Amino acid sequence: MKNSGMKNLTRLWAVPEIAEILDHEAFRSMKYFRHHGRVSCRDHSIQVALRAFGMAERLGADRVAAARAALLHDFYLYDWHTSGPGLHGFRHPSIALANAQRHFKLSRVERDAIRRHMWPLTALPPRYRESVIVSLADKAVTLTDYLRPVRALFQVQKKRLGQKHGHGYDQGDDRDRNSRLEELAEADGNALLAG
Ligand SMILES: [Fe+2]
Ligand SMILES: [Fe+2]
Repeated sequence: MKNSGMKNLTRLWAVPEIAEILDHEAFRSMKYFRHHGRVSCRDHSIQVALRAFGMAERLGADRVAAARAALLHDFYLYDWHTSGPGLHGFRHPSIALANAQRHFKLSRVERDAIRRHMWPLTALPPRYRESVIVSLADKAVTLTDYLRPVRALFQVQKKRLGQKHGHGYDQGDDRDRNSRLEELAEADGNALLAG
């Protein structure tokens, strides 16, 4: 994570209502569930929370509610690639909300943001500003998650070209490139619906 990301994460930890989620065992267990490509459900949710927190701050909305809902928006607690009830894209918001209410006391705004974050895939649009923020932040981070292997591939190619023209050629780069291509193949376009 870049320095600015670390600084913002420190800001999240500084808010007790947000820290209680970050520090919760069930939340931390999301690191074991693969979400987008190789990004875990926990890391994806933290990225959405960082983005939602900043957006809410800039717009004068409730940044704590936005960050809390963002942390819990995908709190369904299974690997959707291999388990779960099916129709994951449609069902996971209500599963995440039920799990979240089991562990945390949520406001009306937070409940709405979790339940409706997949709109327009699900029928009902977000009702509050914070819900809209979480939904938009989720979509932006999901796109970034899936573009990560593509960016890495470009970086490897750039480095390889630089070595060819200036510093010699390293066969290790071919191995890097092949592993990046595997990552790219793994990022199944249909999985965007799982956001
Ligand atoms: Fe989701
Ligand atoms: Fe998400």
